[in-house]
Amino acid sequence: MAEMNAAVCVWECAGDQDLFHDAPSAIDCIRKTGQAAMYASRLFVAYTESKILFALLLSIPTFLEQSKEVPMQETDVERNLKEIESIDSASHAVSRGIHNAVLGGGEPARKVADALHGTWLGHPLHPALTDFVVGAFAFGSLFNLASGELNGKLARKLIQAGAIMAVPTALAGVTDFSTVPRRAMNTAAVHGSLNSVALVLYLLSLRNGNGRPSGMSKLFSTLGFGAMFVSAWLGGKMTYHYRVGVDKSERPEGPTEWTRVLSDAELTENRPRRIEVEGTAVVLYKRGSRIYAMAAVCAHEGGPLEEGTFLEKGADGVCVECPWHQSVFAMEDGHVVHGPSTYELAAYETRVQDGQIQIRLIERKPVVEQDSRQLVGELVTE
Ligand code: FES
Repeated sequence: MAEMNAAVCVWECAGDQDLFHDAPSAIDCIRKTGQAAMYASRLFVAYTESKILFALLLSIPTFLEQSKEVPMQETDVERNLKEIESIDSASHAVSRGIHNAVLGGGEPARKVADALHGTWLGHPLHPALTDFVVGAFAFGSLFNLASGELNGKLARKLIQAGAIMAVPTALAGVTDFSTVPRRAMNTAAVHGSLNSVALVLYLLSLRNGNGRPSGMSKLFSTLGFGAMFVSAWLGGKMTYHYRVGVDKSERPEGPTEWTRVLSDAELTENRPRRIEVEGTAVVLYKRGSRIYAMAAVCAHEGGPLEEGTFLEKGADGVCVECPWHQSVFAMEDGHVVHGPSTYELAAYETRVQDGQIQIRLIERKPVVEQDSRQLVGELVTE
């Protein structure tokens, strides 16, 4: 194949130039053609050597398709993980220890944890970061299997980039682990451990691949890919099966008109009260003459906010701290003051008329709709 390409290229060169009267051009053309042929043959060899990895990558859609067929069933692996008591108690202790350290560290520690949870992003940060690491490591493995100096260099750069990105990704993951629900704790612990194993294997592959990847380097990067692949599968299980990091709050669409919900006399100051409005749980809270109304289900894991701690927090005003993992929400408009929740809550305007508390939903446009309208507006004005 490479030889054919070379022949075609030489023939084309001959068509473009008068080779018999321009010897230097002809030699240059043949030299370039030879280089092209060499490069083509290297690519072919690289492909042959890495075809196992290609086959593995191509099997991913089938694998995912099969997983979809049993969405709510636990696999043997998950069942076994859940039953290992030692993992459960150790992971619970580590998780609580990190969470208590964050809470004990006061406002600065909470701000760092918020950044790592992704409160600024509007959804968890960890899954977004994993894309960089998985991408860099996967292609690093691929190029590491291929022969040739260029492939070796590319593999090295990609694995180095993956290792660097693994640091913030791991920090975000550990922060999320500090408030992971008990049902997913063992899976999360094994997921994190496998990621650590994968990182060590990739670092070993760098140590063994000085310049051109050695056989050991290829072995370590392939094993690293395997560990990372299983870990990614567990990560998917945590999101799509255990719903870790998924918004658990209710998203009411009303009432959009003022609606009576409770007699003012029935709401005592500083005594939160949970009511039901159009099928949504709402927490009412009175401080002084002001009444607040906000969705009562925590977006992190569904904690009951009427059982939380109500406090004043500077510019955020009156807030509620979730009793389960201490997310803090502003009662005024439901925005997240502190994670682990990365999702804001629905909030309501309130007023008292004829001795009755009335509420009306503060309407928010879905983020995607906001963005697309803004984009359309920009395109129209251009
Ligand atoms: S349920 Fe976890 S912070 Fe509320």
